[in-house]
Amino acid sequence: MKFFVDTADVPAIAELNELGMVDGVTTNPSLIKKSGRDILEVTKEICDLVEGPVSAEVVATEADQMIAEGRKLLEIADNIAVKVPLTWDGLKACKVLSDDGAMVNVTLCFSANQALLAAKAGATFISPFIGRLDDINLDGMQLIEDIRTVYDNYNYETEILAASIRTANHVAESARIGADVITAPPAVIKALANHPLTDKGLAAFLADIKDAGIKIL
Ligand code: G3P
Repeated sequence: MKFFVDTADVPAIAELNELGMVDGVTTNPSLIKKSGRDILEVTKEICDLVEGPVSAEVVATEADQMIAEGRKLLEIADNIAVKVPLTWDGLKACKVLSDDGAMVNVTLCFSANQALLAAKAGATFISPFIGRLDDINLDGMQLIEDIRTVYDNYNYETEILAASIRTANHVAESARIGADVITAPPAVIKALANHPLTDKGLAAFLADIKDAGIKIL
């Protein structure tokens, strides 16, 4: 499973990248706002740092403008994936940009039917939002499962990029279902290393190391 980091925080991406945890990056307008950086500048910095796809989202809502913005974003680097919202205009932009050979990430997906449309429009990635469905008492993981089934039924190559991931459980379940990629904030990725039994076991080992005076160097 590929791990994308969902942030425009360059030092946080660099830290995870050094450990080989970063297969790509996703950003969105809210994350760009949070970074306080210029979208073109920060996106270029991220693209220079990371080899895999870096999703940068258009800000227009009308297809022609989305396409123009997408082409400008694509000039930043070869690893840009243009992110467009799952609207009819977004699907039109997806079709044109993907026909040009660009990677396109269709975002704000909340149903299997929407995911079907994105695949037919040539999307490289579909981004179903798990956490935001859970927020309104719907089942975000069920959506990942449904899209996996639909894409496998018809051999669509669009990759399922499980987004709006808030917990370690979202990551584990996405992997179990077979999502191709998860994108999660740096803190969620780092928290995957945590387990209370690891802490407890290490504390016991450290106590024995101290008692026995075990030394290696
Ligand atoms: O990539 C978009 C997605 O990560 C949004 O997450 O937590 O704002 O719903 P969230």
